[in-house]
Formats: sequence, C-alpha cells, structure tokens
Amino acid sequence: MHPFVNIATKAARKAGSVIVRHIDQLDQIEIQAKGRNDFVSSVDKLAEEEIIYTIKTAYPDHAILGEESGQSGDNEVQWIIDPLDGTTNYLHGFPHFCVSIAIKQDNMLEHGVIYDPLRNELFIATRGRGARLNDVRIRVSKARSMQQSLIGTGFPYRQDKDVETYLACMKEVMDSCHGIRRAGSAALDLAYVACGRLDGFWEADLQPWDTAAGCLLIKEAGGMVSDFNGEDKFLDSGNIIAANPKVFIQLTKILRKNLKN
Ligand code: IPD
Ligand code: CA
Ligand code: CA
Repeated sequence: MHPFVNIATKAARKAGSVIVRHIDQLDQIEIQAKGRNDFVSSVDKLAEEEIIYTIKTAYPDHAILGEESGQSGDNEVQWIIDPLDGTTNYLHGFPHFCVSIAIKQDNMLEHGVIYDPLRNELFIATRGRGARLNDVRIRVSKARSMQQSLIGTGFPYRQDKDVETYLACMKEVMDSCHGIRRAGSAALDLAYVACGRLDGFWEADLQPWDTAAGCLLIKEAGGMVSDFNGEDKFLDSGNIIAANPKVFIQLTKILRKNLKN
C-alpha cells in the first residue's frame, strides 16, 4: 500500500471512531446551520481535526482542502477531506454516512479512501492500481441496461435550486430503471457504484470533498464518471454522472436530454 494511503486509512479510521463514539449522544451535539438544509456539527469539526492532525504528523508540508477548515498550505500534494459525509443522516441517527479522503498530486487524483465506520467498510483506490473494499478487489456492476439498474441520486437542496429540471430527470430515470435511491451520502453512494451495489448515480452542485475519492474508486473499478457536459470537470462544477460503462451511456443520454430543457 502506498504510504499516503496508509496515512489516509489511519486518519479515516480515527475520524470514524470519533463519529461512532458520539452516536449515542446525538442530543448533546452542537449543531450550526451553514445554509438552508446544510448543517455542521461539533462531530464534523472534531473528526476533521483528527484527520488533519494525523496527516500533518506524517506530512507537515502537505496542502489541505477540508470541508470544515478550508484550504491551507501550498504543496504539490493536496489532501481533500470530507470528515463526515451524510451529516443530516448522522444527526437523525440514519445509518448511512462516511469519511472521505482523496489525495491529489500535481493536480491529478492519485488516491481515494472512503470509510463507513458503522459497517467497518474501507474502500481504497490508487490511480492505475485498482479499487478495493476491505482488501478485496472490487468492480462496477455488470448491469447491461437501465432496465436492470438501481440508480442513486441526491436531491437539490440549495435556495436557488432548479427543482423542475431535477424532477424531469428523475421522472425519466424512474420510468427507465428498477429503482432510485436517495441515501444521503454522495461519497458513500459513489463507493457503492464502485462495488456494484448501485449501477449508476447522478447529482448536481456537489463539492470536491463529496466526489474526489468516490470518483477515483469508480474509475479504478472499471466505471465511468463525467460532468453534465460529458467532460472530466466534475470537481470544478460539482455536477456528476457515474455508472458502469453500459449504464453510463444510457443514463447520460436521459439526463442530458432533460438538462437541456
Ligand atoms: C452532503 C451529502 C448529501 C448530498 C449533499 C452533500 P455533507 O454532504 O453528500 O448526500 O446530497 O449535496 O452536501 O454536508 O453531509 O457532508
Ligand atoms: Ca459532503
Ligand atoms: Ca461533510
């Protein structure tokens, strides 16, 4: 295992312990609203502190982009951190959330680690070296069409959201597939595409810390990822379509037709 992945794994497991340790005291957790339906809790902050401490102990000069603490440092290596993806789920005791850590080097996504502390599931990927779940190689699903697919998504929740366009996409996807899931943790949903539990996923307006690790996992597991224009700029736009190669073509067609309306 690459030394960066070792540290990312250690950091993700430590953050996972912080998250699980507080789960029985949800009523005592301090919560602040960052925006409409966008919350940060004292646990998000504690988990991020734990991750950054672990990284900085090993690599004091590396740059960090953390959801809660922002950008710091100037280095060819940057760690992109979501200490708790699925905060709303967590605060309601809904058991679907994770820690997500990605590492960019010279502007290329090189490593990704996603950890689900409740199921003790550790997803890791390194560019060109494949993707693994608890040390077993994973591949995207073998579904050959939308008709055989379970598709994940995230609802738009910002003030200026375009609900009509989203609903048009959702209607057509719903009519074309086995089912849609809105599980509430984009990073974990992407990991589920990588290991074939979901056949595809789409969401708009995400942040780099939601998608960086998950997208690398999917690519390394043989899947495809793009933004809504069919390009590779999903980290900039936050708009993402991801799936196994066959479903990707069909899902992209449906979404792009409706996104143009
Ligand atoms: C959120 C989750 C959610 C997605 C939101 C994200 P957070 O991240 O990934 O599934 O729909 O867009 O902001 O705030 O829980 O880290
Ligand atoms: Ca997130
Ligand atoms: Ca978060």
